[in-house]
Amino acid sequence: MYKNSIKLLPQSVANRIAAGEVIERPASMLKELLENAIDSGATNIDVNSMEGGTKLLAIEDNGSGINFDELPLSLTHHATSKISSLNDLDAISTLGFRGEALASISDVSHIEIISKTKDSTSGGKIVSHGGKIIEHTPHAYVNGTKITVKNLFYNLPARFKFLKTNSREFFLLKEVFEASALANHNISMSIKNADRMVSSYKKVSCIRERVLDYLGLSPSNDNLIEVEITKETFSVYLLCSDTSVMQATRKNNFLFLNGRPIENRGIAYSIKNAYTGVIPREKYPYYFAYITINYEKVDVNVHPSKKEVRIKNEREISGSIYNAIRREFEKMNKLVTVDLNSDIENNHHFNVTNDYNSFFSQSNYGNNESESFINRVNSDFNSEASILNDYNKESIELNINPNLNEQVSNFGASTRALGQVFSSYILAERMDEMYIIDQHAAYERLNYERIYKTIVNKKLEYEKLLIPLELEYRDYEIDILIDGKENLNSIGIYFEMNSKTSIIIEDIPLYLPKTTKIDFIIKDIFDNYISKDSTDSLERLIKSTCNTIACKYSPKAGDRLSIGDMQKLIYLLESENILTSCPHGRPFILRISKNYLDNKFLR
Ligand SMILES: Nc1ncnc2c1ncn2[C@@H]1O[C@H](COP(=O)(O)OP(=O)(O)OP(=O)(O)O)[C@@H](O)[C@H]1O
Ligand SMILES: [Mg+2]
Repeated sequence: MYKNSIKLLPQSVANRIAAGEVIERPASMLKELLENAIDSGATNIDVNSMEGGTKLLAIEDNGSGINFDELPLSLTHHATSKISSLNDLDAISTLGFRGEALASISDVSHIEIISKTKDSTSGGKIVSHGGKIIEHTPHAYVNGTKITVKNLFYNLPARFKFLKTNSREFFLLKEVFEASALANHNISMSIKNADRMVSSYKKVSCIRERVLDYLGLSPSNDNLIEVEITKETFSVYLLCSDTSVMQATRKNNFLFLNGRPIENRGIAYSIKNAYTGVIPREKYPYYFAYITINYEKVDVNVHPSKKEVRIKNEREISGSIYNAIRREFEKMNKLVTVDLNSDIENNHHFNVTNDYNSFFSQSNYGNNESESFINRVNSDFNSEASILNDYNKESIELNINPNLNEQVSNFGASTRALGQVFSSYILAERMDEMYIIDQHAAYERLNYERIYKTIVNKKLEYEKLLIPLELEYRDYEIDILIDGKENLNSIGIYFEMNSKTSIIIEDIPLYLPKTTKIDFIIKDIFDNYISKDSTDSLERLIKSTCNTIACKYSPKAGDRLSIGDMQKLIYLLESENILTSCPHGRPFILRISKNYLDNKFLR
C-alpha cells in the first residue's frame, strides 16, 4: 500500500488545526471573550454580532485593559497573566488559565484589539490576520478593552462549512450570553444582533433580581422557591420553579459552579428527580443553581472548552440539593405520599425483572443512554405511578391510538390479555408462555411506529383548524423556524409569519393527537426544534417529533385499561410487528415460560 512519508506540518497549519479544538464556532469564541472580560473585573460588557458572529463578533468591556507592550503577548500561545506555575492549577479562581483563547481566535480570523489600562495615558491597538500581527500602534481609548473578530474560519474552510445557519449560530451566541449574564449579576451586559438590541441587563445587587430579569417576572412573583445550603466544603444558592411551572424542554435549567456555567448530569438529575410526583415526569421545572466549592475540590482542567469540570464531592452536593427541594415541597404540602424513591434500585422487584433479561428480544432503538441511568430513571418513574394519577387523567383524553377503536376481529388465535396489575402492567398468555407488558412503553412504541411510518411514507393527511392557531415567539426564534421551514413542512407542519413575533398555522397533520390543546403539542414540537440542534437533519427532526408525541400523549403507567383496550393493544403490537423495546430502547415485554414456573414450584 502506498504510504506518504511523515512530515512535520508547518507551524501555521498546526496552529490552525489546534485552534479548531478551542474555538468550535462563534458561540465558543464568545464564551472565551466573555470570560476574559469578566476576569478583567469589568462592570459593563457589550456584545455585537453580524451574521451569527461569523462575519463579526465585537465585545467591549470597561475592565483592567491590556498594557500596550503586552498586546502581542495576549495573542501568543501559552501566554497568560492568570497563572504562573503548575501549582496554581490546583486552585483556579479565574475563568481563564491556559493562555490559549486569544491566540487560537487570532489563528483562524481577523482580530483587532484596542485597549487601555487605567495607569497609562493612551491606549494601544493590535491587529492580527490568521495569527500574523500586521499592526501594533498607539491608539486613543477609554479604560477597558474592545475586541473585534471578523471572518471567523476564513482560513479553515473545513470548519466554516460545519457551521449552521446564521440564525442558529446567533441562537447559540445568545445561549452563551444568557448563561454568562445569569452567572454575573453584578455586571451590566447587553447583546445585539446586527446592531439591534436583543437582550440587556442592568447590574443588580443580588442573584434573585438577575434571575427575575431573565425570566421577565416581577419581584412580587412567588413562583420561585429559594433554597440556601451552607456546608463546610460547599454552599448552594438555588432558585427553582414551584409546582405551577411545567415546561416541555430543559430550557432554563442552569448550573453554575464558582461563577462558571457548567453541565453536570448527576446534579441535574437529582434536581429533576426532586420534582418526582410534584410535576408530571415528562415536564421540566426551571432552576438556577449557584454552587460554590473550595477551589481545591474542583478540577476545571479537564476539557479544552472548560465546560466539563470534575467535582470531588458531587454526590454529597446533589444529595443535599435533592433533600432541600423535597423539604420545600413537604412544607408546601405538595407531596401526596411518602417518598418512594429511596433505595429503589435495591428493591427485590427490580432484581427479578433483571433476571429475565435473557428472555427479552431486544433491539437498540433511539438514544443510547447508559443502561444503569435508564434503569434508574425507569424504576423511579414506575414507582411514581400512583402519585401521578392526577396528570394521567388528562393524558387519557389526549391519547392517540387512532386505530384502537377499529374492530379487531381475529385475535382469538394468538395472545390473550388476562388483566392489569398496578394499573401499569398488562398480563397476557399465549400457549405455554406468559407475558408482562409495560403498558406505557408499549403504547409509546406503537404510536411512535405509526407516526414514524406516516411521515416517512409521506402518507400525511391534514385537517383544517376551525380557528387558526397563532403562536408567539421571539424574532430570533422565528428566524430558526423559518430557516427550518422545509424540514418542518416535511413532517406536515406548515406555518406562515403573522408578524415579526408570531406565526400562524391553519392546517395540522392528522397524526397529531386529537385534543383541544393542539397549541401545546405544536409548541412542544417547535420548542424542541428551537432548543435542540436538529436543523440540519430531517431524520433527527422526525425521530424527535415521534418521540415527543408518542411519549407524552400515550396512556401512562397508572391509567386503568379495560380488557378490550389491552387486547387491542396486543393485537396491534402483533399485527404491526412492533419491536419489543420502547423508543428509548427499554424492553417492555417480559416473557416467562411455563417451564420456568414449573421449575420454580418444583413440579
Ligand atoms: N478583555 C480583557 N481585558 C484585560 N485583559 C485581557 C482581556 N482579554 C485578554 N486579556 C489578557 O490576555 C491574556 C490572554 O487571554 P486568553 O484568553 O488568550 O488567555 P487566558 O484568559 O489567560 O486563558 P484561557 O486560554 O484559559 O482563556 C489574558 O491572560 C489577559 O491577561
Ligand atoms: Mg481567556
